[in-house]
Amino acid sequence: MIIAIDGTLASGKGTIARRLAAHFGLPYMDTGRLYRATGVAALNKGVALDDAAGLADVAAHLDVNAFEESRLRTAEAGSAASKVAAIPEVRAALLELQRAFAHQATGALLDGRDIGTVVCPDADVKLWIDADVEVRAARRHRELQAAGETITLDELTTQLRERDQRDSTRKDAPMKMAADAVLIDTTDLTIDAAVEKARAAVETVLARQE
Ligand code: C5P
Repeated sequence: MIIAIDGTLASGKGTIARRLAAHFGLPYMDTGRLYRATGVAALNKGVALDDAAGLADVAAHLDVNAFEESRLRTAEAGSAASKVAAIPEVRAALLELQRAFAHQATGALLDGRDIGTVVCPDADVKLWIDADVEVRAARRHRELQAAGETITLDELTTQLRERDQRDSTRKDAPMKMAADAVLIDTTDLTIDAAVEKARAAVETVLARQE
């Protein structure tokens, strides 16, 4: 079984994905981490974030375990990720890795922006997680503050809108809800309620397929 979970930044997507993977006993891949690691590796090596050939080379030789989690979670890493993710050569370099993970014998759960549309259009279950932009910005702001970053809520809201815009308008694999995905809007939900709603949605889709 392949479960594809896509959605916007700070929608609750990552937490929902991790908890559902544990619940259904599936290996989990956070595909945003691949783009974050590519962005950070490029910054470290001094490769410009619009140098397609240089970035494709960074992505092709990526060791995702070579980075501190805290470094990958910074606002700078997220912004770099979204820039390198707009480059088709980078997406191509990371695609096979994701597909191989998805198609292992145990099944898998992947989260990202294009899992249900491009990486695994054949996924058994597809969820799209979203929430109002102000609510997402406030959530992410709390997380970043807790991690010691000093960005203001206004700056973050602007960054988030820019990131949504870049992710959803890029030519290659734009962020979008697959036609056969189930929408979970977490605006008014606690994270526990959101996970529960997502779990129930997966069960409903699976029951329909039996
Ligand atoms: O989900 P996360 O915030 O870690 O993703 C960082 C960035 O990586 C996103 O803004 C997006 O540009 C890119 N990404 C992507 N496709 C994916 C996962 C992430 O383009 N499957």
